[in-house]
Amino acid sequence: MSVAQLRAVMGKVNLPNPLLLASGVRGASLSEVTKAPGFGAGAAVTKSIGPEKREGYPEPTLASEDSGLVNAAGLPNPGAEAFSRELESVNGLHLPILVSIFGGSDEEFVRVTDILDDRDFIAFELNLSCPHVAGVGTEIGHDPAAVAAVVRTVKSKTSKPVFAKLSPNTENLIEVAQSATGAGVDELTAVNTVRAISIDVASGRPSLSNVYGGLSGGAIRPIALRCVYELRDNFDVPILGCGGVSTWEHAVQFLLAGANAVQLGTAAIADPAIYNDINLGILS
Ligand SMILES: Cc1cc2nc3c(=O)[nH]c(=O)nc-3n(C[C@H](O)[C@H](O)[C@H](O)COP(=O)(O)O)c2cc1C
Repeated sequence: MSVAQLRAVMGKVNLPNPLLLASGVRGASLSEVTKAPGFGAGAAVTKSIGPEKREGYPEPTLASEDSGLVNAAGLPNPGAEAFSRELESVNGLHLPILVSIFGGSDEEFVRVTDILDDRDFIAFELNLSCPHVAGVGTEIGHDPAAVAAVVRTVKSKTSKPVFAKLSPNTENLIEVAQSATGAGVDELTAVNTVRAISIDVASGRPSLSNVYGGLSGGAIRPIALRCVYELRDNFDVPILGCGGVSTWEHAVQFLLAGANAVQLGTAAIADPAIYNDINLGILS
């Protein structure tokens, strides 16, 4: 097998290999995200960008558990206008970047889409699944009607492909995905973090300032695999698997479950250049 055979074709999105940096894990800085393709990723997803600047939650925002992380960063981001200026600096370079966006209503999603759409990137990923920020995450992402409305309005505003990033924290995964695909979404990303808390034994208190956060890393891989498998059983659209991938065997598990490509989050925090080893492993 040759490196060319790693190519991942997903509708209008064509990547040199099936590994992507997942949203948010390398922070809000665009320069961290644009390094990932140089480290061997087929593409990279930015931090989720909203209509206005957000500071995020106070520290602590991250707690280590046996086989993963619990995080509640609170969607810190510079806001769409400032991020658009950052994107201007890479306009014309044709970098394989997906821009993740969030909002509290269709109108907010549309505002962010309008501000960013003329910049040079390959697709939007709608964050419909943050488990720890009220009003902008799973309140929308667990409601099939709200998901359909957001997808339909964003699709009407851009000719770029639109991905929907789904939540594992719902019993209605298929219903939500049905709404997204029915509204014309181009691809599904599965999944965001699993709602969780961590407790600090020394203080006797929850570890995170926000108390509630999202679990990522190896602990969630079987959940993410189940979501991808169920989605593939029901839909023909391309699927990006995400959750707990840190070795080539994990990536292959997702491809066998029906994913077209795989995002790496927590594993890319420890090793930002993890992609080449995994790509070589898939080839072996
Ligand atoms: C510190 C941190 C920040 C994250 N920020 C975002 C974000 O801004 N938008 C988003 O859609 N997902 C965000 N995620 C979720 C990841 O993109 C990914 O879906 C999740 O971590 C599961 O993948 P993993 O197990 O490979 O980390 C974040 C995860 C972590 C650990």
